[in-house]
Amino acid sequence: MSESLLQVNDVAALQATCQQWRVAGERIAFVPTMGNLHEGHLQLVDLARSKADRCVVSIFVNPTQFGLNEDFSEYPRTLEKDCELLAAHDADLVFLPSVEALYGDNISSDIHVPVELTNKLCGLNRPGHFDGVATIVAKLFDAVKPNTAIFGNKDYQQIQVIHWLVKHLALKIKVIGAPIVREDDGLAMSSRNQYLTAAERQRASRLHQVLESISDSLQAGRRDFTVIEDEVATVLNKTGWQVDYVQILDPNLAPPRLKGRDYMILAAASLGATRLIDNLRCHISAGFRNRK
Ligand code: PAJ
Repeated sequence: MSESLLQVNDVAALQATCQQWRVAGERIAFVPTMGNLHEGHLQLVDLARSKADRCVVSIFVNPTQFGLNEDFSEYPRTLEKDCELLAAHDADLVFLPSVEALYGDNISSDIHVPVELTNKLCGLNRPGHFDGVATIVAKLFDAVKPNTAIFGNKDYQQIQVIHWLVKHLALKIKVIGAPIVREDDGLAMSSRNQYLTAAERQRASRLHQVLESISDSLQAGRRDFTVIEDEVATVLNKTGWQVDYVQILDPNLAPPRLKGRDYMILAAASLGATRLIDNLRCHISAGFRNRK
């Protein structure tokens, strides 16, 4: 276990340390998080570690990406445990800023993501969410100036927003999307899973199973995308879920092509008060592609 995890609260101190590393020719990989770390986050840290000389992680529950009725104040904060995990995974620095340090007295989003990226999936149900994500990630990128930044594919639309952000700000940062880490029963790991009751937790892996079943349908040659989506949403709604969306899109989140080779299957649905998201990429194997 690393004895040398630097804990930094101050933006200027973070900038100074990262600048020292850069001057010494060291490359920096960065993993932004909201804390309450689980194996999904830690695999991003391990990947970051393997991609650069220095691994910086931020833990910041970002107010501007939470809607009025969302869980900002209740979001689980487990700093001490998080720092132990980061030390054990050999991170070099954890940045733990206050809201004031990053926003001053203007807690609002000053980056506006183009509507083409936000008028679908989670963007529809969470207005302003991706502006908040883009705003905070831009502030963090500016402070850390990493060579590489690692995000999880679990938040697939978020990664598309980050790709746009890097282009929009003309940053020289390589953005890497890391695979979704799942529990043994297939449920995608998430800090929000702990909100589930024991009974809900038992049923939660259903979300992943329906994505797999859609993937099987696509592999088998079905291309009636909206019919498939409706069938699955109806079944989920009838079995105690409140579906936000079940959608088949192409990997850029554009409408799916009939003769596409790769599809993204994405879903968001609530069990009780807990909203879960998940997605699966479906690559059509050559034998099946031209079957219909
Ligand atoms: P948070 O939800 O803490 O997630 C931090 C990173 O961990 C994100 O890139 C997310 O996609 C990734 N992640 C979470 N669960 C994962 C899983 N099961 N498998 C793989 N990766 C997983 O996403 C955010 O925070 C925030 O929006 C943030 C980018 C930090 C901006 O505030």
